[in-house]
Amino acid sequence: MAESITLPKNTSKIEVYKSLIPQIEAVIEPENYLIANLANISAILKEAFYFFWVGFYLVDENQLVLGPFQGPLACTRIELGKGVCGSSWQKKQTLIVPDVEKFPGHIACSALSKSEIVVPAINQNNQVVFVLDVDSEHFNNFNNEDQNGLEQIVSIIVKKHF
Ligand code: SME
Repeated sequence: MAESITLPKNTSKIEVYKSLIPQIEAVIEPENYLIANLANISAILKEAFYFFWVGFYLVDENQLVLGPFQGPLACTRIELGKGVCGSSWQKKQTLIVPDVEKFPGHIACSALSKSEIVVPAINQNNQVVFVLDVDSEHFNNFNNEDQNGLEQIVSIIVKKHF
């Protein structure tokens, strides 16, 4: 397994995602343990984009439970429909929140978080199996480039593990 990733310098977010996707595939290819792969993917995303918080919440019966992440301490359990993560899970849709304070029911794990994107991972039975949550210290930090890039990363994980 590669011990480091190569990031293109002075380039657009799209180019960074484009470069990361095959590298993420290569990193998870030899490893069959989901949590190990989620841990490395959160580290890769943190290193690539300096996100404030990036990590996974896994579906555990009727709640989401905190999985591998990079960033400050986070809440461990989220109910279906609650916060951005629980809403993304319920709606089975990626949610981009430009200003978290304007999102009804947003769960503030840190007062420093200003904007957020949550991507649900949906298996072949149309069930959400986990969500990828990314938080930024800046307002309006996420757009459809992040949505496309992060959705591709999530679908690579689903293809391998679910
Ligand atoms: N803000 C999220 C909770 C998780 S933390 O941001 C890490 C939410 O509203 O679901």
